[in-house]
Amino acid sequence: MDLTVNLAPERSGGLLLSNPVMIASGTFGYDGYGRGLDPGAPLDSLGAVLPKTFTRRPREGNPEPRWFPSSFREGLAAGETTFLNSIGLTNPGIEAAMSDLAPIWDEMDANMVMSMAAESPEQWEEMASFTRGVSGFVAIELNLSCPNVDDGAMFSHQPRLTEAAVAGARRQTKLPLWAKLSPNVPDITEIAHAAVGAGADALTISNTIPALHIDVDTGEAVLGTGYGGLSGPALRPIAMALVHKAAQAVSVPIIGVGGVMTGRHAAEYLLAGASAVQVGSANLADLNAPFRILAELEALLTEWEIASVSEIIGKAEVA
Ligand SMILES: Cc1cc2nc3c(=O)[nH]c(=O)nc-3n(C[C@H](O)[C@H](O)[C@H](O)COP(=O)(O)O)c2cc1C
Repeated sequence: MDLTVNLAPERSGGLLLSNPVMIASGTFGYDGYGRGLDPGAPLDSLGAVLPKTFTRRPREGNPEPRWFPSSFREGLAAGETTFLNSIGLTNPGIEAAMSDLAPIWDEMDANMVMSMAAESPEQWEEMASFTRGVSGFVAIELNLSCPNVDDGAMFSHQPRLTEAAVAGARRQTKLPLWAKLSPNVPDITEIAHAAVGAGADALTISNTIPALHIDVDTGEAVLGTGYGGLSGPALRPIAMALVHKAAQAVSVPIIGVGGVMTGRHAAEYLLAGASAVQVGSANLADLNAPFRILAELEALLTEWEIASVSEIIGKAEVA
């Protein structure tokens, strides 16, 4: 069976991945950079791997607790469906990423995709300029779920800011650019159009959705920041609807993210119109999950006698 998918148009050189299953940014290993992974993990068997987002300067991240449940693995095993985090983009900054981490990625056989987030339209361009001439990654994902310092608005909450961010990065790189969008917007299609119009080659939908969980016994929020981002099974139907809507509106590939725990969930995203999926929370619960999900998807498509993934993309009947 042909599992290959192309995640960039020819104008950006095309980007052929061997299959549609990737590891989502921030969930690669237990620290977002691969820690905890078996050194022999066959990362090259996945479509792509996205390390955690880098910002312009190093960031310490948010106050603890940053996770609910404190162990995603134990939570999932116990039937928990609410998964929250407020990590706060802990990272060493893009300059350290380019000098210290990109050479490591370069040695790996996997397709690595660098994720970055900036604080102003100008900073998107500056950060993309740091990637010039650096090898070790095949595409750049723009994490647009971060606030613009001038007005505090999230980039992917406004078409104008989305466009400025993508256009800034586009001016500095010829690599395929994926724009990762926020789920909590009134109309995902206007954000999708803005990103594509400014040069995004694919859209990643979606990031986590703002959420709050209070422990009624203590009367306190379970996270140190109060609010956090909801991921996992509860996010899936929300992201599914956004993927479906965006896929009707734009012609670039869509990458579905949110609650992919099994191969059937991956197939659901493909049917909704995604060309590929990213696995986040499931990976944090079990570092073998992306490999299992890929095997399950392949088995399902074989059972359905599908010759190529492209045959089922967007084929769901949604009235
Ligand atoms: C602990 C944790 C850290 C994350 N860090 C990032 C990040 O650095 N950059 C990013 O774009 N998304 C980040 N995300 C969001 C995921 O990439 C993904 O969009 C989201 O979790 C939904 O997918 P899931 O339901 O499979 O987890 C993070 C998610 C989690 C759970």
